[in-house]
Amino acid sequence: MFDVAAFRAEFAFFRHNPEWVYLDNAASTQKPAAVLASMQQFYAQDYSNVHRGAHALSQRATALFEQARTDVAAFFNAKSPAEIIWSAGATGALNQLAFGLVGSVLQSGDCVLITTLEHHANIVPWQFHTASVGVELAVVPLMANHHLDLAAYAKLLAEKKPKVVSFTHVSNGLGHVTPIHDFIDLAKKHGAITIVDGSQGASYQAVDVQALDCDFYVCSAHKLYGPTGIGILYGKTAMLEQLRPLCYGGEMIKQVTFAKTTLNQLPYRLEAGTPNIAGAIGFAAALNWLSQFDFTAMAQYKQHLLSQLWHGAKAIPGVQLLSTVENNAGIVSLNLQNEHPSDLAVLLDQQKIAVRAGTHCAMPLFQAIQQPGAVRFSLAPYTTVAEIEQTIDAIAAAADLLA
Ligand code: ALA
Repeated sequence: MFDVAAFRAEFAFFRHNPEWVYLDNAASTQKPAAVLASMQQFYAQDYSNVHRGAHALSQRATALFEQARTDVAAFFNAKSPAEIIWSAGATGALNQLAFGLVGSVLQSGDCVLITTLEHHANIVPWQFHTASVGVELAVVPLMANHHLDLAAYAKLLAEKKPKVVSFTHVSNGLGHVTPIHDFIDLAKKHGAITIVDGSQGASYQAVDVQALDCDFYVCSAHKLYGPTGIGILYGKTAMLEQLRPLCYGGEMIKQVTFAKTTLNQLPYRLEAGTPNIAGAIGFAAALNWLSQFDFTAMAQYKQHLLSQLWHGAKAIPGVQLLSTVENNAGIVSLNLQNEHPSDLAVLLDQQKIAVRAGTHCAMPLFQAIQQPGAVRFSLAPYTTVAEIEQTIDAIAAAADLLA
């Protein structure tokens, strides 16, 4: 059994904000004491820049920083720490991938296949970094239940022969889970490089990148109890070697003369400039802390909350559910008939229920399902049954008021 009270007690946020129901976890999660302590300790006791100092303090900071890389690599079961590239987050990693594959893998006339569920971060970088060189962007459609159409995906793979397939593990707009094993296996059969956007997926299930056998997996720390401004670009070594760096400067070079520069080895080749050292340490602390909990028990508990919220909302007259309860990682997106999502969100905010409303950085998804957006309730294992009850009552009261 998952002990929600013990898990929740790790987050000071809830003691400071007892009146709030925080259901905006797909945007960002709260931070446990272990993460705050690790960053406080680094800045207060161990701070120095990494990799460059002649002094022992820098060596100590470097050891902590590289240990963080090793810990994160272990959490995701990467073959080697050098397969973990620090990024500013999933967005930074996806930008590096879109830019970095042009020229080496992607040439004029090639195709990149994405899906209707993508966050803008997995759409716009492809449009801006690859369209100018004549790379086509194709899109996997949805079925009527707003899940990805696997048959259409297989057809697009056969027809378009994409060099790269880039898809989300879990939809940030709806919570729907992509059948990633099928997606990766089918892409491999067609010889496509696979990129998984794990922004919402890494908190949904324990991710083993070697078992998945994807070529790249990206995620942000701040949706996994870690700090903002840090994330990872995981890649198989041979794949990372093919990437043209997006950023140039210190750290990523071996030798510089005015005539010529040679680049450093992985992972440093893709990490120009002073990195987010405290962020990396905080991210590793988050994952080390998270590892003590049973992922399956946490997922089951979240599934229970999801079902409670979904069925509770369904019973309210006027509620239109956009998310299914099946194959859902813990998000309920809905609208009140004939009301703009913002109106419901404002009423919930007045009742101290924090949700996100709008198109959730996924405008093409909402265009495809012909909705102005949605009110999104995103759960975490620290959410309680009582909070869900309170939320259902608040939606019902708002629906009454707006009817
Ligand atoms: N991408 C984050 C969200 O879905 C910010 O809210």
